[in-house]
Amino acid sequence: MNAKTVFVIGAGAMGAGIAQVVATGGFKVYLNDVTMDRVARGQKQITNNINRNVTKGKMTPEEGTAILGRLTYTDSYDKVAEADVVIEAIFENLDAKKAIFQKIGPMAKEGALLATNTSSLSLTAIGSVVPHPERFIGIHFFNPAPVMKLVELVVGLKTSPETIADAMEFGKKLGKDPVVSKDSPGFLVNRCLVVMLNEAICLYSEGVGSAEDIDKGMMLGCNHPMGPLTLADMVGLDIVSAVMECFYTGFADSKYRPALLLRKMVEAGTLGIKTGQGFYKYDANGKKVK
Ligand code: 3HC
Repeated sequence: MNAKTVFVIGAGAMGAGIAQVVATGGFKVYLNDVTMDRVARGQKQITNNINRNVTKGKMTPEEGTAILGRLTYTDSYDKVAEADVVIEAIFENLDAKKAIFQKIGPMAKEGALLATNTSSLSLTAIGSVVPHPERFIGIHFFNPAPVMKLVELVVGLKTSPETIADAMEFGKKLGKDPVVSKDSPGFLVNRCLVVMLNEAICLYSEGVGSAEDIDKGMMLGCNHPMGPLTLADMVGLDIVSAVMECFYTGFADSKYRPALLLRKMVEAGTLGIKTGQGFYKYDANGKKVK
């Protein structure tokens, strides 16, 4: 596949991170969200990251300017028809994702690769609404997308082998190292990772240890780069909760029961870094406040 243009839907932390990675990979990128305010937040994240990379000497000012110049910001789907690859990266909600693909599926260029960044939802269900489900695949990036090497390619019931090969080639062009998963709740990584985060929340809510000690234990005892409660705050407790609920209903197995405290924190709007409060407090720059 000779892809040149990519349309990213959702300008939150993941969507903006993905757009940055794709533009850095040399592609022309449209970054879309429902309002220009939301798009502007994504633009700010990308501009700050690129400027920081230039300041650190990781790229020249000219390279930084070229990457930023490949990005266009929009609140409409007008340019979907130009894209060789469309990546949806909105919040974890099956109906919302299906509604987007129902709308853009018929607008997409013939042969375009349609992808979702879903963390856990059924790829097959989301892909069922597009005219060519054989061209539909999961391309799951990890947070922070510009840093993490992995993309997980998720294969739905109707995804064709050619689509898997194209997504593999695309992932490698982005400098990522892909793995392939069948369509099962949470795929390969979140099935392991998010269950661990949920268990850390259970430990904390049972008072077995402090947040700091649970995190320190996993960092020093298992060499994790950050502790599970810090990571849950970074991923967003709404996402962690949505993934656990997806396991709980998807497998109909009590071993995936979401921690009650996780549900309550989401109900309270205490979502981690993005709201300034999760298991820890954060300032406006997302730094932990002691
Ligand atoms: N965006 C872009 N770059 C970032 C970044 C961000 N949000 N956060 C950190 N970086 C960059 C820094 O600029 C720095 O770059 P440099 O090496 O060129 O200077 C580099 O990453 C390292 O950052 P720091 O020195 O500030 O801090 P750390 O060494 O502690 O690394 C970390 C930060 C990369 C986030 C590391 O702690 C880590 O790997 N944590 C685990 C992340 C993880 O598990 N992610 C997966 C989450 S699950 C997921 O996404 C799936 C979803 O579906 C739920």
